[in-house]
Amino acid sequence: MRLLVLGGTRFLGRHVVTAALARGHEVATFTRGVSGAPPEGVRALYGDRDDPAALPRALDGWAPELVVDTSCQTRPAADNAAAALAGVRGYAFTSSLNAYSGWPPGPVRGEDDPVWDTPDDDYGPNKAHAERVLGAALPGRFLTARAGLVLGSHDNVRRLPWWLERIARGGRVVVPDALEQPIALVDARDLAGWLVAMAEDGVSGPVNATGPAGMTTLGGLLETCREVTGGDAELVPVPEEDLLAAGVEPWLHLPFWLPWETAATAWDVDTTRARELGLPVRPVGETVADTWAWLRGDPPRQARRAGLPEPGLPAELEETLLAGR
Ligand SMILES: NC(=O)c1ccc[n+]([C@@H]2O[C@H](COP(=O)([O-])OP(=O)(O)OC[C@H]3O[C@@H](n4cnc5c(N)ncnc54)[C@H](OP(=O)(O)O)[C@@H]3O)[C@@H](O)[C@H]2O)c1
Repeated sequence: MRLLVLGGTRFLGRHVVTAALARGHEVATFTRGVSGAPPEGVRALYGDRDDPAALPRALDGWAPELVVDTSCQTRPAADNAAAALAGVRGYAFTSSLNAYSGWPPGPVRGEDDPVWDTPDDDYGPNKAHAERVLGAALPGRFLTARAGLVLGSHDNVRRLPWWLERIARGGRVVVPDALEQPIALVDARDLAGWLVAMAEDGVSGPVNATGPAGMTTLGGLLETCREVTGGDAELVPVPEEDLLAAGVEPWLHLPFWLPWETAATAWDVDTTRARELGLPVRPVGETVADTWAWLRGDPPRQARRAGLPEPGLPAELEETLLAGR
């Protein structure tokens, strides 16, 4: 079928394109062209989705039957897609757990939990707005994947890449003294292939699109990083109060780490519907190993989303925290 990817040239969208081609679709991407070109074999359409005229102009008579939307961040982007694409057979949208007004800290008990309904121009409220507008335009044909942590190759957010690079450098590595903290994630390839399948089948409604609660732990993930990189890193657990007192920012400086009070509920997300709809759960070791293989590619992979702070613990902060331990 003719499948349009809104996005497709950075991280998750790249995997969507790969999956859609592998499933035999005729694929087009719609992007501004800022993040580079889509892979070979794809019809590259260009324009800014915040501009109401851009998508109809770029389509120029090419009528998509299916849509996978990985690039929606603004309200106009959602409104314009709803106006231009309401006739498609299936539309799979990438939302976020941030669409829930109570998450974080959560927990998320199910897809009926309340979502944002405020006019704020913020990530979560914008995703919730997009879900409402597109859902109304495509009744019974709109699936919204409220994604949790997405990991894999082409990761331009660079949380797992930072851990892999830091642990590969070896020596004494500051880690939170919270290694039993549960973590759930979804491999970008698994989410991408599943989004394409959901669009094909015209499945509708919201789905918490992440791995099962407690599928691994922070310690399990970091240990896997050590195994995969083969370094001699010594993980040095530092108590939460010392990290916070030193100015370590949870999630940013030590990716995946949340203070215990938040972690207990933030990772507690009901994914029953995702399991029923067949969202795969790949072994964490595979995701980590494949991300490491991609990072070590030639040329070295440094992709990073412009405007986002670089994750990772600044070296001076790490030195201070290690002193005397
Ligand atoms: N990473 C996570 O852990 C995580 C968690 C939850 C949800 N999500 C969601 O998952 C989605 C995946 O993001 P991704 O970056 O991996 O997707 P992607 O499709 O690989 O990359 C984003 C695409 O959007 C295009 N784009 C950006 N602004 C645009 C505009 N105004 N008009 C047209 N195209 C535009 C970019 O191309 P150009 O720059 O060339 O325009 C790029 O191709 C996002 O919606 C994110 O909110 C991610």
